[in-house]
Amino acid sequence: MRLLFELLGEHETLPRAEVLACIEAEGHDYEISEEESRILVLETEAEPERLGERLGLTRYVDEHLASGSISELEDAARGLRPLSGSIALRRRDLRPRPERDSGDEGLNRIGGILANTNPVDLDSPDNEVRLISGKNNYLALKKAAIERSSFGERKVDRRPFFSPISLHPKYARALVNLARTSKGKTFLDPFCGTGGILIEAGLIGAELMGSDIKEEMIEGCRENLLSYNLDSFLFRSDVGDISENVDSVSSIVTDPPYGRSSTTMKEELGSLYRRSFESFSDVLERGGYLAIVLPDKAFIEVGEEYLRLEEVYEQRVHRSLTRFYCVFKNY
Ligand SMILES: C[S@@+](CC[C@H](N)C(=O)[O-])C[C@H]1O[C@@H](n2cnc3c(N)ncnc32)[C@H](O)[C@@H]1O
Repeated sequence: MRLLFELLGEHETLPRAEVLACIEAEGHDYEISEEESRILVLETEAEPERLGERLGLTRYVDEHLASGSISELEDAARGLRPLSGSIALRRRDLRPRPERDSGDEGLNRIGGILANTNPVDLDSPDNEVRLISGKNNYLALKKAAIERSSFGERKVDRRPFFSPISLHPKYARALVNLARTSKGKTFLDPFCGTGGILIEAGLIGAELMGSDIKEEMIEGCRENLLSYNLDSFLFRSDVGDISENVDSVSSIVTDPPYGRSSTTMKEELGSLYRRSFESFSDVLERGGYLAIVLPDKAFIEVGEEYLRLEEVYEQRVHRSLTRFYCVFKNY
């Protein structure tokens, strides 16, 4: 099926990368046919509903029906098979505000064409057809709407055990997807803290393992995971000793301390990260992925001494913190 993804606009490259990694994690190929900053159109066998359950940085997953000028979309609408049940046509304008027109004329004409073959129900339609305008125009049939509010509800201050050291759940989810995490496969966060990353991996069905140097974090993390009914194997360990408890894992996702709000136990960052990468390369299975957030480009080279660097995405958080979302593979 040809799918259209409407991506969140808050990062230029990360939402797109998350979609592609997610399709791979579900065991499918893809062929990109069109893209612009907030839109990605591709051919894949992956199920749109499952992708919708997984993605953190996408707003909608649609079936792509047509692209082009409004009059080309009108022609395409005339050629569409009738859908089963009622329809509503909705407008989505992704262009910068000064470039937007009201767009109602196109909407009315295409709506009129679709209404010839399908009953219209604007309040609770069986099918939502979307007319999207960006650099190009698109006609698409909504397959999955990502529940944006559910990510907000899982924010750190809403969990039973709280510590202000956790990534926003949507970015934690993106990292989990970048590591090609799969349902039923083993997953480790060796700096698990309050469990923000483990919750996101657990919600897509991974077998959870987590460790942290602080007993207090392990207990709090357990409480948080239980509040989402998630099973896990949690143990207290220095990152250098995880192989005493773990033989091999399919993916590792982690947000280590940067030596600011979260402690490194007085260890210098370079030394902590080196020991971490060494440990990860011991337990990560061949072909397995590590997705990690680093606070400085310089540490990426340390990782490359142990694993193969696949992708890097930069996110400026504020003047003195830039996060580097890095994806490594064990080859
Ligand atoms: C940034 S926090 C992790 C946040 C976590 N993703 C969450 O959702 O809460 C980093 C964690 O690393 C732990 N830590 C620090 N040094 C460690 C070490 N040497 N080995 C294992 N864990 C360590 C800290 O106790 C802290 O919980």
